[in-house]
Amino acid sequence: MRRPLVAGNWKMNLTLAEARALAQGVASKAASFGNAEVGVIPAFVHVAAVGEAIKGSNVALGAQDAYWEKNGAFTGEISTAMLVDLGVKYVLVGHSERRHVLGETSAICNKKVHAILNVPSLSCIYCIGEKLEERQANKTFDVCRSQLVDGLAGVDKAKAERLVIAYEPVWAIGTGLNATKEQAQEAHAFIRGELAKIFDAATAASIRIQYGGSVKASNAAELMSQPDVDGALVGGASLKADEFAGIIAAAAAAKR
Ligand code: PGA
Repeated sequence: MRRPLVAGNWKMNLTLAEARALAQGVASKAASFGNAEVGVIPAFVHVAAVGEAIKGSNVALGAQDAYWEKNGAFTGEISTAMLVDLGVKYVLVGHSERRHVLGETSAICNKKVHAILNVPSLSCIYCIGEKLEERQANKTFDVCRSQLVDGLAGVDKAKAERLVIAYEPVWAIGTGLNATKEQAQEAHAFIRGELAKIFDAATAASIRIQYGGSVKASNAAELMSQPDVDGALVGGASLKADEFAGIIAAAAAAKR
């Protein structure tokens, strides 16, 4: 059984005090985590403080991005070593906002995936998903396939145990319009099949595939009930500890 992973992507939100309070609020809900693994992913400038706030709890620390070079003249970028130093475990790569607002390509993502998986203590949450017009043109599978093939090129299957895929249809992110459980399961099963081609069947069976896009406490149970849905990457609903805890509890109950 794959252990579900529920991670809260706080994006470019919260003040320092709010981030600390939310982190403490999430950590205080640990009784509802059950078998679920839980992570919070604050903005870079809050990573250290959030790490302090969750110290000693079973909430893992995440970061929203990382640069692939080890150090040097890369103004504004953050290295994997800096993140490790702060206790980060999960690093997002290729979030749709980075792809579609900031112009990140799967080739760029690939360099980041390698840099992250080359650090034994880090796990990479690689995000993929189609835009609305791509779904309407029946290109969902093509888009997911090419994001997987290009983004994961050259990744050694021995490192894939630290890889998580987040399937996030772009039309569902921040819109209140989540994929149905059938749409999610169909995409996740397809993605697992592609992972089997890239790695092998056993590796694909072990990789967690999170669903993301308007997950809330009220729709989490049905999404998490799907066999290939192994947790959630949560944006808006992760900014309230109670709501986030409801999603975690749903994932834990579905994957007992
Ligand atoms: P949302 O965002 O839950 O606000 O739709 C999900 C995400 O971007 O990871």
